[in-house]
Amino acid sequence: MASGKVYIIGAGPGDWELISVKGLKKIKAADAILYDFLASAELLQFVKKGAQVICCGKADGLHILAQDRINKLLFKLANQGKIVVRLKGGDPLVFSRGIEEALYLKNKGIDFEIIQGITSAFAAPESFGIPLTRKGKYSSVAVLAGRKSNNAKLDAPDCDTLIYLMAVVNIKAVVKTILDSGRDRTTPCAFIERGTAKEERIVSGTLFNIVKKAKEYAVKSPSVFIVGEVVKYGKKIYGYKFK
Ligand SMILES: C[S@@+](CC[C@H](N)C(=O)[O-])C[C@H]1O[C@@H](n2cnc3c(N)ncnc32)[C@H](O)[C@@H]1O
Repeated sequence: MASGKVYIIGAGPGDWELISVKGLKKIKAADAILYDFLASAELLQFVKKGAQVICCGKADGLHILAQDRINKLLFKLANQGKIVVRLKGGDPLVFSRGIEEALYLKNKGIDFEIIQGITSAFAAPESFGIPLTRKGKYSSVAVLAGRKSNNAKLDAPDCDTLIYLMAVVNIKAVVKTILDSGRDRTTPCAFIERGTAKEERIVSGTLFNIVKKAKEYAVKSPSVFIVGEVVKYGKKIYGYKFK
């Protein structure tokens, strides 16, 4: 068994201070750090002098290092006895290949630990005062992919709140899926772009007009798309920030 260890860490959604204390401690102690674009760059200021810093890419559609290469690098570095941090955006296992990395390391007999992060699915809406649930009123939430590989069918389950990640480029199909499932076209919804980061913004509307509004305000990735009556609470609290 190699003496190194890999920490698969969630950096949080955008504001670097949202990383866990545990995650930050491991970044400070790491001999090597492999990070994705979605992980806050500010966190790199804590990397110790002399540590190896490797950008793996991974924003929508842009991968600097292929997954297989990332897996092999994690193995190689840990096998040299190094403390390795694999830093990923949000939570490391939510719509992420963190689990593939963990399985690869397990197979190779490398010691690893998963350190959770705050997922953008929850943090981005909450950054604009939008709760996911409300006691006695809205009790179910689904977190969904707004784009699937091989153009597989999208989902719109019967939940009070629907949260789609990776939905920007596919918003027409996402909205159609939701409407086809029987939801009213007056249902409130919103895009939260770069939630919790300094440049965060919200574009809100209804299922009827959100495609047009997303185009009008040029909504970009990374954004969370949230659908449900809960959006109205955000409007009550932070309405002045809503477009
Ligand atoms: C591959 S998924 C990774 C999700 C990540 N593991 C998490 O827990 O947040 C990438 C998607 O997450 C969402 N996302 C990530 N960071 C975001 C942010 N700060 N604001 C809004 N959406 C974000 C976007 O939907 C983006 O397309």
